This record gives sequence, C-alpha cells and structure tokens, in this order.
Amino acid sequence: MTVLVTGGAGYIGSHVVRLLVERGDEVLVVDDFSTGIENRVEDLPIVSLDLAASDAEDRLVAAIEEHSVDSIIHFAAKKQVGESVEQPLMYYRQNIGGLTNVLAAVERTGVESLVFSSSAATYGMPDVEMVAEDLDCRPINPYGETKLIGEWMIDNAITAAKMRGTAFKAVKLRYFNVAGAGWPELADTAVMNLIPIVLERVATGKAPIIFGDDYATPDGTCIRDYVHVKDLAEAHIASLDYMKSEEPAETVFNVGTGKGASVKEVIDAIAEATDREIVPEMGERRAGDPPALVADVSRISAQLSWKAEYGLTEIVRSAVDAAGMSSTGK
Ligand code: UFG
Repeated sequence: MTVLVTGGAGYIGSHVVRLLVERGDEVLVVDDFSTGIENRVEDLPIVSLDLAASDAEDRLVAAIEEHSVDSIIHFAAKKQVGESVEQPLMYYRQNIGGLTNVLAAVERTGVESLVFSSSAATYGMPDVEMVAEDLDCRPINPYGETKLIGEWMIDNAITAAKMRGTAFKAVKLRYFNVAGAGWPELADTAVMNLIPIVLERVATGKAPIIFGDDYATPDGTCIRDYVHVKDLAEAHIASLDYMKSEEPAETVFNVGTGKGASVKEVIDAIAEATDREIVPEMGERRAGDPPALVADVSRISAQLSWKAEYGLTEIVRSAVDAAGMSSTGK
C-alpha cells in the first residue's frame, strides 16, 4: 500500500508514519512545516506544501500520480481552540480549504481510501458524560466547526463517488485527549495541552494551575479521556485495514479509552512519574470547558477491533521520559 500522509511531520502524523513504515507500507509525507518537524520523517519522500495554497490541488495530483498513492491520511490542520476563536477565517481557510484540495485531488486520481483527523471538539458541550458517535454534534468554537464541516464534506464526497461509480471509502476518527509519546523523538513539542503544560511548569519551578475545582465531578476538576498517541496511531492503521477488507458499515469513530481522568489525577500521575511533590494552584474556570468528556468506544471496538492498550500511567510516563524528567533521571 502507498499512503500519502498530510501533516506527517506533526506529532500524531509522525507516529502513524512510523507504524506504516514498520509494517512495510510506502509512505509519502506532505507537510508545510509550519508546526511539523522535518527530523521526524527525514528518511522519507517529502512534499513541502501548504494544502490551502492555490497550487495545492495540482501539486497533490502530481504527487499522487508519481507515487501511485492508493490511500491518504489527512492530519494537516490548525488545531488550537483559542486561536480559532481569535482567527476564525484562518481556520476556515486552512482546515476547510486544505480538505477541499485533498478531496479534489482524490476525485481526479484513483485514491481509494481516506482517514480524516476529526475531534471530540465536534461534540461541543454535551450534557452527557460518555459520548457516543450518534450524539448531536454542536461544536462551540471555529476549530470544532471546521472538523464537523470536514466530516460532512467527506460524506458528500463518498456519495458523489458512488454516483460516479468510483470506489472511494473514508473513515473519520474523533480524537479525545491525545498525549504521551510512542518514541521519545516523536514527542509533542508544542506546549498547548494539560500534560505538556504541567511538565513545563514543573521543569521551570512553577506551580501548575488547575482551571477550576468547583465542577460537579468527584474531585471538582474536569474529566477527560486521555488516549496514548501510539494507541491513536494504531487506530489509523486499523481504519486503513477496515476499508480494505469490507464496505464500511460505519464511517465515524470515537478514539479514546472509555475511561476518564480528572485534572487532579493527571497532576498526581505526573508527580508519581517524576517523583516530585507538585502543589498546583487553583485558577478560574476556563471558558468553554465541559465538566466531563469521555468517549463511548463501543463502536470502534466492535467494528475495527481496536482497543486502547495504554492507560494514564503509561501515557504520563512516556511523556515524562520523553521530556527527560523521569524519576530515574534517564
Ligand atoms: N487544564 C488545566 N490547566 C492547564 C491546562 C489545562 O486545568 O494548565 C485543564 C483544562 O481546563 C481541561 C483539561 O485540563 O479541563 C484538558 O485541557 P487541554 O487543553 O489539554 O484539552 P481540552 O480537553 O481542552 O482539548 C482537547 C484538545 C482539543 C480538542 C478537545 C476535544 O486539545 O484540540 O480536546 O475534546 F478539541
């Protein structure tokens, strides 16, 4: 199989690239290196390309034809919720514009399957703790909207391909809170999410801040479903295999563990893994934070036979090790 991975030099993309290479697939990386890091994929063919650029569709078509690509995994996108509120048009231009060019290139070539990075941000602020895929999606920020619209665009492309009599299948994966490192050199270098933020604050002698401890949860702090990036990467491989073997019965899947952890529990796990006492400060609630968001993973387990192998302890330990902050000093 030859797989084109957009955003393949990114944190999640590079984990998937590593697994594809390990199992013997041919891989072509497309990345604009705005946040991607070339070292993560340096031995592979790379097309340096902003997918929202005016020549992106033609350059994608040329790359797909030159490398006889049969599948695409599309990661390349902007992914910061706060930034998306401040610069919504940039999010629409990059995420919707980029996907439009990917789907146009699919239509012009013989690409048979696509895996799309979607997000639990599509759900918004659900009033249930455990979310299943058929819940109404009501995203509450432009980032989540671009992911939901992306899912619709793909559904429309599947319908149109059927009408043309073309074989095209797609799977949309709704990621929950991705963290950890499968290989230390592929670790998340952006400090945008809870675990990297806490690690950085601890490393620089600052107290981490908990954004609100008065939620209606057992310890008052927000609950999320943390999934190991290597498990998430495996879900992409399972998606490719699913589309190869049968007509997908479902096309959208939550990717999480089905178990929630509170902010306090995450900080405790970091204290344990670093063997340091961490005394967090209590801060204000952050706007737009749902109290609890945990994936119902029955669908992905039934259809893709995928299940997370790692839990919070392994996730945190791998992040701590990659940051060189483990208690053993390795
Ligand atoms: N938090 C703190 N202190 C911090 C940072 C975060 O208490 O310094 C809390 C947040 O309030 C939240 C939890 O830790 O309760 C997790 O926060 P993150 O920012 O790590 O993650 P989010 O759940 O807000 O968002 C993540 C992804 C988004 C995606 C969303 C989908 O970062 O891209 O999950 O649910 F849209």
